Amino acid sequence: MANNRNHIFHLTEEVDRREMWEKLSRQEIIEYYDEWPKHGYDETNVRGPKIAADTVISLYDSSVRSKVKVLDVGAGTGLVGEHLKRNGFVEMDALDASEGMMNEARKKKIYRNCFKEFFTADSLIHLNDYYDCIVAAGVFLAGHLEPDSVSHFIRLTKKDGHVVIVMRGQCISGQGYVESVLENMEKLEKKGQWKKVSQSVSNEFSYIKDITGLVLIFQVL
Ligand SMILES: C[S@@+](CC[C@H](N)C(=O)[O-])C[C@H]1O[C@@H](n2cnc3c(N)ncnc32)[C@H](O)[C@@H]1O
Repeated sequence: MANNRNHIFHLTEEVDRREMWEKLSRQEIIEYYDEWPKHGYDETNVRGPKIAADTVISLYDSSVRSKVKVLDVGAGTGLVGEHLKRNGFVEMDALDASEGMMNEARKKKIYRNCFKEFFTADSLIHLNDYYDCIVAAGVFLAGHLEPDSVSHFIRLTKKDGHVVIVMRGQCISGQGYVESVLENMEKLEKKGQWKKVSQSVSNEFSYIKDITGLVLIFQVL
């Protein structure tokens, strides 16, 4: 296992992470994240979480935020939750498959529950129709969430609730992954399960110049 991890980190130095994901299995990706906080993860360099949190904040007046039930999918070390907490959100849960990342989030005491699991078709079925808002920042990447995960976001969200997704705008790694996620989103809209409230491109998403972010808001019908 240690050798495997060393291999993964060696790979990171040699190859930009953008190209790394498609070379790793789902389990290896999570092992990579498990080690990430220990290897000097610079949270200040990550911009997606603030963009995602600001988008959620824009949807709810400050007078109601403390009652809004939020699920942060692929919450990582809790950066989205930190921004939300500073802005009055209280009822927040996190889900992430990486123990290492979840442990960092737990230390911050932001989330009521930290569910350490892969997001699947069966995730949190006891919480169907429970959340007012699902947020996912930087998790729609090749080898991370399945492109059809969006349909399970809908089952977990109350009618009229929101789904906020911030993801890379280009398909850099993983053949057709972004296209496939967008196709799934469109299919669900055609089926009348949700409607797209807005889609915008953020040039602030990454410190790497050629990566833009896609900021999507949906409302569950
Ligand atoms: C790039 S990090 C983003 C973390 C956080 N949302 C942020 O913006 O700082 C991606 C996170 O997704 C988690 N992850 C990847 N695939 C996952 C899956 N299939 N189910 C649950 N979590 C997953 C990883 O463990 C990692 O913490």
